[in-house]
Amino acid sequence: MAYSIAVLVSGEGTNLQALIDQFADSSSIEICCVAANNSEAKALSRANEASIPTESFELGNYADRESRDVALADWISTHDVDLVVLAGYMQLLTPGFIDRFPRSIINIHPSLLPAFPGVDAIGQAIEYGVKVFGVTVHYVDHGIDTGEIIDQVSFTPSDPNDAVSIRAKASKVEHELLPSVVSKLAAA
Ligand code: GRF
Repeated sequence: MAYSIAVLVSGEGTNLQALIDQFADSSSIEICCVAANNSEAKALSRANEASIPTESFELGNYADRESRDVALADWISTHDVDLVVLAGYMQLLTPGFIDRFPRSIINIHPSLLPAFPGVDAIGQAIEYGVKVFGVTVHYVDHGIDTGEIIDQVSFTPSDPNDAVSIRAKASKVEHELLPSVVSKLAAA
C-alpha cells in the first residue's frame, strides 16, 4: 500500500506543487488529500487540477480554533494518512490536533532553525544581518517551529540584503528539500 500524505496549505502552494510533481507517477507515495484554512488558496486549485480531494476549514465557520482543528483532524483521518505535511500552512495547530498525529506532522520553514522561527523568517534573518541562509524541515511539536529537525540546507547569497533573490533561492531549495524528506520518511 502507498505511503499516504495529507498536505495542509494556506496560500500559493508552490511547495504542494513540488510534491505533486515529484509523486504524480509514484506508486509508493500518494498525496491523499489537501486541506486549507482559506478557501481562496491557490494551492487548492493546484490540488484540484491534480484530482486530489480538497477541503477548506475556515476559522470563521467554527466556534474556536480547537473545534476547527477537530474537524480538520477528523477529515484527514478519513483518508488514513501516514504523514501530515504543512506546506506553507500559516496557522498554528492546536495541541489537540498535534496529539492526534504523534511524530507524524512535518513543517517546512525558510530559515536555519532554531534561528528565526515564526513569520517572515527571511525578513528577520536579513534584518539581523546573517550571511548564510537556509531552509529546515522539522517535526511539529507544541511550540512555534521548535520540533526536532529532520533536515536542513544552507545557502550563501552573493548579496545578503537582496530579499528578492534570497526568497527565490529559498523557494527553490524548499521545492527540493521537502519532497526529498518525504521520500526518506516513506522509505524508513
Ligand atoms: C514557504 O516559504 C514556507 O517555507 C512557508 O510558507 C511558504 C509557503 O509557500 N512556511 P507556498 O504556499 O508553498 O508557495
